[in-house]
Amino acid sequence: MAKLSLPLLLLVLLIVFTTSFSCPQHQKEALLHFKASLFNVTSSFPSDKEDLLSMFESWNSSSDCCDWYGVDCDNQFGSRNVIALYLWRFWTLELIASTILTPLFHIRSLTSLDLSSNQIQGELPGDGIANLTQLMSLDLRSNHFSGSIPSQIFNLRYLQELYVLYLQNNNFFGKIPSSILNLKRLDTLDLSYNSLSMEMPIDIGNLSNIIILNFRNNELTGTIPSSIWKLRKLETLDLENNLFIGEIPSWLFNIAGLKYLFLGGNNLIWNAKAKIVPKFTLFGLSMKSCGLARRIPLWISMLKTLSFLDLSDNQLEGMLPQWLVKMKVSGIILSNNNFTGSLPPGLFDKPGLFVLFLSRNNFYGELPNNIGNATSIKYLALDGNNFSGKVPESINNITGLTLLDLSNNRFSGNFLPAFRVFSPSVIDLSSNEFSGEIQADSLFDTHVLALGKNKFSGSLSRSLTRMSRLEYLDIHDNQITSKLPDFICQISTLQILNLRNNSIQGSIPDCISNLTGLRILDLSSNHLVGEIPLKFGKLMIETPDTFLNSDEVSSFLFSNLGDAYDVNAGIQDVIVNWKKSKQGLSSHNLKLYFLLDLSSNQLFGEIPASLGSLKALKLLNVSFNNLYGRIPKSLGDLKDLESLDLSHNNLSGTIPQSLAKLYQLTILDVSNNKLIGKIPEGSQMDRMNDPNFYANNSGLCGMQIRVPCLEDMSPTKPPRVESKETWFSWEGVGIGYTLGFFITVGIFYRTEYFILAKYINYRCQQRR
Ligand SMILES: *[C@@H]1O[C@H](CO)[C@@H](O)[C@H](O)[C@H]1NC(C)=O
Ligand SMILES: *[C@@H]1O[C@H](CO)[C@@H](O)[C@H](O)[C@H]1NC(C)=O
Ligand SMILES: *[C@@H]1O[C@H](CO)[C@@H](O)[C@H](O)[C@H]1NC(C)=O
Ligand SMILES: *[C@@H]1O[C@H](CO)[C@@H](O)[C@H](O)[C@H]1NC(C)=O
Ligand SMILES: *[C@@H]1O[C@H](CO)[C@@H](O)[C@H](O)[C@H]1NC(C)=O
Ligand SMILES: *[C@@H]1O[C@H](CO)[C@@H](O)[C@H](O)[C@H]1NC(C)=O
Ligand SMILES: *[C@@H]1O[C@H](CO)[C@@H](O)[C@H](O)[C@H]1NC(C)=O
Ligand SMILES: *[C@@H]1O[C@H](CO)[C@@H](O)[C@H](O)[C@H]1NC(C)=O
Ligand SMILES: *[C@@H]1O[C@H](CO)[C@@H](O)[C@H](O)[C@H]1NC(C)=O
Ligand SMILES: *[C@@H]1O[C@H](CO)[C@@H](O)[C@H](O)[C@H]1NC(C)=O
Ligand SMILES: *[C@@H]1O[C@H](CO)[C@@H](O)[C@H](O)[C@H]1NC(C)=O
Ligand SMILES: *[C@@H]1O[C@H](CO)[C@@H](O)[C@H](O)[C@H]1NC(C)=O
Repeated sequence: MAKLSLPLLLLVLLIVFTTSFSCPQHQKEALLHFKASLFNVTSSFPSDKEDLLSMFESWNSSSDCCDWYGVDCDNQFGSRNVIALYLWRFWTLELIASTILTPLFHIRSLTSLDLSSNQIQGELPGDGIANLTQLMSLDLRSNHFSGSIPSQIFNLRYLQELYVLYLQNNNFFGKIPSSILNLKRLDTLDLSYNSLSMEMPIDIGNLSNIIILNFRNNELTGTIPSSIWKLRKLETLDLENNLFIGEIPSWLFNIAGLKYLFLGGNNLIWNAKAKIVPKFTLFGLSMKSCGLARRIPLWISMLKTLSFLDLSDNQLEGMLPQWLVKMKVSGIILSNNNFTGSLPPGLFDKPGLFVLFLSRNNFYGELPNNIGNATSIKYLALDGNNFSGKVPESINNITGLTLLDLSNNRFSGNFLPAFRVFSPSVIDLSSNEFSGEIQADSLFDTHVLALGKNKFSGSLSRSLTRMSRLEYLDIHDNQITSKLPDFICQISTLQILNLRNNSIQGSIPDCISNLTGLRILDLSSNHLVGEIPLKFGKLMIETPDTFLNSDEVSSFLFSNLGDAYDVNAGIQDVIVNWKKSKQGLSSHNLKLYFLLDLSSNQLFGEIPASLGSLKALKLLNVSFNNLYGRIPKSLGDLKDLESLDLSHNNLSGTIPQSLAKLYQLTILDVSNNKLIGKIPEGSQMDRMNDPNFYANNSGLCGMQIRVPCLEDMSPTKPPRVESKETWFSWEGVGIGYTLGFFITVGIFYRTEYFILAKYINYRCQQRR
């Protein structure tokens, strides 16, 4: 026996020594194959290749794949299989098809696969993942996976070991497969931020090991399944922002270990008569829009460990309760209620306060002087109340402030925050009574500065050029009297500039063409003179992906997180007077909007043909100026144009036939000019038949206004008398409509043009 076993032992040792220090060849090949196909795709993005190169630099055939970046092998004696791949953010370029992952599914020893935060799109490769039967942790969050979650991958044969499943922040839709209940070991299931619908599996409570259950931001319906009470290990239940219905079950409050309970933003109803003696030590609670009325339920005051409380969108009233003022919370969200009174100083005596949202209540009075004692506030929104007086200086001591929203109050004084270290990304002071010159000396980090509807006056300060990140500057409805200075062209990050309704003098500087990222430019209702710059043609050609793109807004804020929460804040809608009605432009799509409004000034000269090169323009308004000459043919190149207003000028000649190429056009107003000739026909031009928009010209004709053109009349048939009558009756109608038109203008003139609307969305998540 011994004689036999010695060579065998040597053989085993030999095998061990020759193989134990590197990963199996077939696994290495699979990984190299993966790298090769990635680089193959990359060849079309040469500029960003560098990052990728450095990330995969160590992945070469001459080294052991266990030493490669993002690769982990097991250390069992005699085998070094690849067991983990950490490929977080390896691909941030364009979308890439999920088929790129195919080689990875050959590495069947994987226990951990992290492909989060990439740009992978397409269906989840169900067969591939089911191949990885050893998998314990699968992280596919923050990609663009779509389709349904394939149910077969949860069949008992496969993935029995899986205890962590992160699929959040993708585009999955359809039902949550009930086969997911086969994953008996699962302790974390995060399907948040998808479009999953219908009811959740009724036996969800069979996942007896579950600790974190997160379905936030989907479209799930039905009542909260009663099986959830069986989940004795449950610590986080996040059902926020779905379509759940029914009464909030009182047994939820008997789950002893629960730490985070988010029920807000559904159609759930709180039964005010329920007697609750909470059994848990909650850290986070959201009962947003749960029909809470009058006072905050007293049992909430008994939650001594509470750190985050969201009771927004209810009908709560009265003063802030003392227990809440004293509570050592770090997040308070009470927006959209009817609380009143002034803010007690004690509220700001919390060194840990991180989020304070009291928007749209009935608070009044001055802000307490010690507001700056709450030095760790990151998100402060007090908009839509009745606060007055000066903003206390001490606010500048809140050095980490990221969002400051004081809009829609009655604050006064000459205030712009002067932060010493960082300045907030978003500052909204609009609709107050602030006055004096705008001094933006230390707002180096500010991306959004909204000062509309105040009483700021004087000139535009050169200090604005120090705002090297400024993308959104809104000073509409103020009393700025200076010229539009050349230095405005140095703020090269600008994307949205709204100076509507001030008293700005002088001409539009030629250098405005330096602002190549500009997408929305509103200089209407000022005293601008001179000609429209020829070099406008350079504007709006780039669509930079920057802060205002909401993905960036969230990732920017994610990277600035405190430990307690993930806070995802974004500017949501820019509301514009869009085609004569108020429309919200979602910040998700903001980069799709290109608007140029120079109306109601004293601009002079001809409309430059170069405007035709602003290819992405959707709205062009140069009405109410002194423009003369012909309408340039090149306007027909503005393929995306939806609204064109040239009215109230001194334009002559004919309407160019090229406008018939504007297939998106829904509003064309050329009234009150000196235009003659035939209104172009064809495609959407045939529907531009509102006589208001052609009124008061020097002889327009066409089917749109039911005035026949001479050129259309058959030479064999003399013009009939009726047509002459039509002409006269149209003139009569025209006058009547003109009055109507002015009334319409009056109404829209008063409507606010830009409103920075916002929506802040919290995501509280326990970290493992
Ligand atoms: C690289 O791309 C070409 C065509 O795009 C394809 O034919 C080839 O098979 C690809 N190679 C790899 C390794 O994926
Ligand atoms: C392969 O990668 C290793 C590091 O993993 C490095 O030391 C070696 O120089 C690389 N070889 C080549 C040929 O690039
Ligand atoms: C599963 O793994 C095996 C062996 O590594 C491989 O041959 C097969 O193609 C894989 N299946 C899928 C669907 O990727
Ligand atoms: C859930 O568990 C119950 C009892 O433990 C069992 O009767 C039921 O079949 C299970 N449901 C599923 C879908 O596994
Ligand atoms: C808010 O409270 C005030 C009294 O403080 C009351 O007059 C008003 O009607 C309430 N508004 C709403 C919307 O409940
Ligand atoms: C604010 O903080 C200062 C110390 O920074 C302290 O002296 C003061 O009492 C605090 N104010 C209030 C009202 O708590
Ligand atoms: C705001 O407060 C003032 C007194 O400071 C009061 O006159 C006014 O009615 C209040 N406005 C609202 C909308 O409550
Ligand atoms: C800001 O903080 C510093 C030091 O913490 C303090 O000395 C100063 O008084 C504070 N400023 C205001 C206006 O509260
Ligand atoms: C223009 O701004 C002033 C305040 O500066 C405001 O009173 C007026 O209503 C605004 N005009 C329009 C048309 O919005
Ligand atoms: C505009 O850009 C040009 C060339 O890039 C530069 O020379 C000029 O100084 C810029 N003008 C202003 C006012 O920034
Ligand atoms: C309109 O333009 C014509 C020349 O085309 C000029 O004679 C006339 O004075 C202009 N009218 C006004 C009001 O500017
Ligand atoms: C163009 O601007 C004028 C004045 O600013 C406004 O009255 C009109 O409604 C705008 N036109 C369109 C089509 O929105």
